[in-house]
Amino acid sequence: MSTGTANIDFTNDMTAGFYGHSNPVILAAIRSALDNGISFGGPHAHEVALAEAICRRFTSIERVRFCNSGTEANLVAMGLARAATGRPLVLAFQGGYHGSLATYTNVEAPLNVDKQQMRFARYNDEEDVRRVLDKFGEETAAIIVEPMMASGGGILGNRAFLAALRTMTDKCGALLIFDEVVTARFSPGGLQDLFQVRPDLTTLGKSLGGGITFGAFGGRADLIDRLDPSRPGAILHSGTFNNNVLTMSAGHIGLTEMATIHALQAVNASGGKLRHSLLEVAKVRRKALTIGGYGSILSLHFQPAEPRNPAEITTTPTQRKLFHLDMLLRGFYTPRRGTINLSLATTDEDCEAFVEAFAGFLDQFSAFLPRG
Ligand SMILES: Cc1ncc(COP(=O)(O)O)c(C=O)c1O
Repeated sequence: MSTGTANIDFTNDMTAGFYGHSNPVILAAIRSALDNGISFGGPHAHEVALAEAICRRFTSIERVRFCNSGTEANLVAMGLARAATGRPLVLAFQGGYHGSLATYTNVEAPLNVDKQQMRFARYNDEEDVRRVLDKFGEETAAIIVEPMMASGGGILGNRAFLAALRTMTDKCGALLIFDEVVTARFSPGGLQDLFQVRPDLTTLGKSLGGGITFGAFGGRADLIDRLDPSRPGAILHSGTFNNNVLTMSAGHIGLTEMATIHALQAVNASGGKLRHSLLEVAKVRRKALTIGGYGSILSLHFQPAEPRNPAEITTTPTQRKLFHLDMLLRGFYTPRRGTINLSLATTDEDCEAFVEAFAGFLDQFSAFLPRG
């Protein structure tokens, strides 16, 4: 069991709780940090260690800087792209989510920043990106993209699409930013390594901070060095808690001792097994089900065809709510949006029990779910 309450946790803090609720290795790192001072107002050893671990793992990250959230990492990365290129626009994707101030599930969301300077295209649609760049390419500072749309429905980017973004940004002189806040956990070098597409900048967050408040952005040395305060004409990037001692130590221990290549492969394999079992259970009952996502993150859609972008999602909010509430009653905590996030604490027994409960859900609410 991965939780001390009545529910087995398949939400895992929206993927940030990758190491489980009370991983002893993470807790020991935090306790030891607590005993040695939590506030220095300057660089410290844990920060250097985490930075080095990140640069070792992500081949495109030559330098990294820390901040306090994924939202902040994305806003700074977009700002840096604008400053470095001298261009005003950023192209993002309809249905993308880069944080509370950059929510493109609703491009007009009231709290979104820089609204006039954003342009949007359809995810996984190279032609649509080309259409936007034909018009705005010379003014475009960057394309920002999740290599797997997380909040937008667990929709995996097509490798050819992501590679085309690399080519198109190179051609028009814009930067390519990968938001790997969620997907960094898929392999030691993130989804970019699995797809072999190298962005100019990468943003990180969630689980890489060991379960504590975290954000980071990194990439090409010539870009990140522009923020180095020791250089003449540096662009200011500051933040009181950017190198929060507890995050830096938990993040470092997590990456170096817990998120090993074997552990990541094992949890991805558990996700694969779970995906297969859930699809089987639905098939036997002739219910429409597709499961997006990758490895340890599964995204359920009660529909026959896998969506390539959020506009192709036909699963209704009511079906999602039904799934969420019924699974809660059966003892499983999943996010309302229909994803299942495994953690390193998720066991085979947890997954088997989930499959059984899911079969019960399909049987009970068959009338509300489409036929497969
Ligand atoms: C892909 C992606 N980017 C950025 C963020 C924002 O991170 P934070 O909540 O730490 O601001 C999220 C959060 O869900 C996310 O899923």
